[in-house]
Amino acid sequence: MKLFLQEVSLGLSKKNKKLNSKWFYDFYGSKIFEQITNLEEYYLTRTERKILQDNKIEIANKIGTNAVIIEPGAGDIKKIGIFLDNLDKPKKYIPLDISDNYITKIAKGFKKKFPNVAITPKGYDFSKNNKLPFKINSSENIIIFFPGSTIGNFEKNDAVKFLKMLKSKFKAKKIIIGADLVKDIPTLISAYDDKKGVTAKFNKNILRRINIELGGDINLNFYKHLAVYNKPKKRIEMRLKSKRNNNIRINGSKYFIKKNEEIHTENSHKYTIRSFKNLANEAGWKINKTWTDDKKLFSVHCLDLAL
Ligand code: AVI
Repeated sequence: MKLFLQEVSLGLSKKNKKLNSKWFYDFYGSKIFEQITNLEEYYLTRTERKILQDNKIEIANKIGTNAVIIEPGAGDIKKIGIFLDNLDKPKKYIPLDISDNYITKIAKGFKKKFPNVAITPKGYDFSKNNKLPFKINSSENIIIFFPGSTIGNFEKNDAVKFLKMLKSKFKAKKIIIGADLVKDIPTLISAYDDKKGVTAKFNKNILRRINIELGGDINLNFYKHLAVYNKPKKRIEMRLKSKRNNNIRINGSKYFIKKNEEIHTENSHKYTIRSFKNLANEAGWKINKTWTDDKKLFSVHCLDLAL
């Protein structure tokens, strides 16, 4: 059975229904996410870009010479270009993304822009702990670039596991990583519930994929997009709330969704500089340097191996 189908049937059979946010990202979903990054309300992308831009020389110095840069969950790969020209003889850039056709297409544009940097895009789902789709030479200067606060989409334990895995499997020497910061709740909520309804469309893309790829018959209009801040857990939770009782059928199996029932689709954890430091330490990394913006909306960190 397809992994997508397996996870969907398990997630919809639970009392507290949930679906994994990684399923947002087919080609269409990745396109909607690109739109989100340009929204007025979604301060994350432009703030992180400015931090990278303002500190690109220092970041390039931290990365050092002959770097092999690996970017898991690379998406539209726009951020690496900010400091690529400042790097000293970069050896290779390997963008990884769950959507194979999306990353391959995006990488073509990149090749035109940076013809002198070797780029090898790969489709890879890092949440599955599969064999890497390329060879690792542990003597190389392997740098992980993980911007965008994607780390925030992991549950705390999984975030620690992921950061450990970058050391054990990817043989990373350093990580350049972006993490969104805890802030006032209205700013957070509007970033995940924009006026134009782009995030709502993104959230519902998971249902659209179930219909298209798994033969589901879900009426998307029966569901309302919700973005809720879970204060104790310091995270935005995206959910899809059913407006009415409805039976859905997916690949021959039936599921009953009650009126007002919610399907939890994403967590987006927010960190303080201190809580991020603790996370890194727990995973065997130490903070070499932290950069933020004037308003302390977002943070970018350089992590070193804690020996
Ligand atoms: C990819 N990730 C960091 C985004 C976030 O902010 O958690 C995904 C997203 N979900 C809704 N809007 C954006």
